[in-house]
Amino acid sequence: MDRTFCIAPMMGRTDTHFRNLCRFASKHAVLFTEMVHSNALLKNKRIDKYIQKTDIENPVVFQLGGCEPMDLAEATKIINENKYDEINLNVGCPSPRVKSGGFGAFLMYEPTKVKDCLSAMTASSDIPITAKIRLGVDNQDIDETLDNFIEIILQSGIKTLYVHARKGMLEGLNPKENRNIPPLNYERVYRIKEDFPDIEIILNGGLSDFLEDKNKLKMVDGLMYGRYVCEKPYELTKVDKIFYQSTKETNIETLVMMMEKYLIENQNLGFSGYLIKRHMVNFFKGFSYSKKIRQIIMSDNLNVDEIIRILKKKHLLVA
Ligand SMILES: Cc1cc2nc3c(=O)[nH]c(=O)nc-3n(C[C@H](O)[C@H](O)[C@H](O)COP(=O)(O)O)c2cc1C
Repeated sequence: MDRTFCIAPMMGRTDTHFRNLCRFASKHAVLFTEMVHSNALLKNKRIDKYIQKTDIENPVVFQLGGCEPMDLAEATKIINENKYDEINLNVGCPSPRVKSGGFGAFLMYEPTKVKDCLSAMTASSDIPITAKIRLGVDNQDIDETLDNFIEIILQSGIKTLYVHARKGMLEGLNPKENRNIPPLNYERVYRIKEDFPDIEIILNGGLSDFLEDKNKLKMVDGLMYGRYVCEKPYELTKVDKIFYQSTKETNIETLVMMMEKYLIENQNLGFSGYLIKRHMVNFFKGFSYSKKIRQIIMSDNLNVDEIIRILKKKHLLVA
């Protein structure tokens, strides 16, 4: 799997519909699910809600949360049966609920436990197991702790790390603040790559300029975008050309038609189109004509030609 460009796991955002729309814009971007706790897969009778995905989404990574090796191993087996390409352990979420459950970023204190979790997952999986970490938590001295943490978790045999390039503060900051206040430290991530050259390192945190960020691929193996893609999903039409040697950007007319087809197919299957429409509206937000497009998408009679006409009028269609 080519992890040059990844779209970060985001609760409340990266559901199957979002991922399908992203795939229409980029054939190659690596997509992630939202985090799902191992218990949700093991204790729920109706797991399809968590495991739901379509074949066109691949390559797609399932992100698991949890800290019990046996449970994570069982959850891994279920995910293996559902055509995902990789399973990623969340070692970066700093929310109070996650902290009180002893998983997510709290695990940055527990390298041996993380190694045990990843080893149990690896033993139960035919697809790669990876981890998404932070640089550290609270008042850890990351020059002292981080390399030791990584050395220990790599004993599980994993070969890829996604690194959110800041610390997490488990006391005093909420999740949103934890994505903004602790300073970004890309240099520290580059140093991980120097110290562990055989490990694939994917840089995450604050990336928002494809052309400029591309230079960072001299120091790391891939880039992971979160909020920027939510704010400007439309930019994904450029990914294959910039990052994957495709000759053309995705044609917007084709993109809109694929979205319409997906919406109709899902409505025919009996799904409410509302969730899909919400993601579609977001795809075109931020432009001067986005209100008009929103009205068209949310109306009962989705008029695709009208959307394309507006986009054409604004000279946005790619030749
Ligand atoms: C709404 C939202 C939900 C998130 N949910 C998750 C999650 O489920 N798992 C995870 O590892 N990170 C989660 N994150 C963190 C992102 O994956 C990413 O690490 C973070 O936003 C920094 O990247 P960015 O600056 O490109 O947004 C979430 C972020 C946002 C904004």
